[in-house]
Amino acid sequence: MRFVKARDYDDMSRKAANVISAQVIYKPECVLGLATGSTPVGAYKCLVEWYRKGDLDFSGVTSVNLDEYRGLQHDNPQSYYYFMNDHLFSHVNIDPANTHVPDGTIADADEACRQYDETVKSTGGVDLQLLGMGHNGHIGFNEPDDVFAKGTHCVNLAQSTIDANSRFFASRDEVPTQAYTMGIQTIMSAKKILVVVSGTDKADIVEKAFFGPITPQVPASILQLHPEVTVVGDEAAFAKIADRI
Ligand code: GLP
Repeated sequence: MRFVKARDYDDMSRKAANVISAQVIYKPECVLGLATGSTPVGAYKCLVEWYRKGDLDFSGVTSVNLDEYRGLQHDNPQSYYYFMNDHLFSHVNIDPANTHVPDGTIADADEACRQYDETVKSTGGVDLQLLGMGHNGHIGFNEPDDVFAKGTHCVNLAQSTIDANSRFFASRDEVPTQAYTMGIQTIMSAKKILVVVSGTDKADIVEKAFFGPITPQVPASILQLHPEVTVVGDEAAFAKIADRI
């Protein structure tokens, strides 16, 4: 596990975007695993800026996103489908047909998850998986559990996740209680993983996830077993591990 120290959120975003850029430059036909949440937003901004400058070409890139709220329509601004178009896809030359987000509009959960596993499989595998991390250590929407889930599955969101994500919705009651998420096995199958963390409120979970025991109760802790993980974090998020990295 490699830790890259950044000064603040902007620095973290640029460093993370540089890692993603390098992937696209080294392998223009790569598969990027993409994430939502507020942490990667700055990195997406950099990628859009560098694309506009002519430094990046997404025409060969395929993307698979980690997760989606169950039941939200694509035109709902809180859906991850909308988020990805809004922050990245509609601003760069990625072929929309090559962008994939689990389909939250499919009511049949088994069918939605089966379809998404097929989609991920058909890409041939993720080259670089971008991950944010929830306060309870969730990655994608893999919440603390007794086991590590394998493929795409439907989850009941933890109350703390609903509370944290309610800041994006008009009221807490509007936050969906379920989501479809890629499983831990699929995430761990990515060739490389890039984790982004920022802010004091992530300092505790950063320590637990990367220096604590590997347990499904802290889903991100499994990343300790992956051979190619880079964690880019700002000083605030690394506050509790600064003397160990
Ligand atoms: C959501 C997403 C996760 C994300 C997490 C952290 O729950 N499903 O993929 O990592 O939020 O979000 P933030 O970056 O806003 O702290």
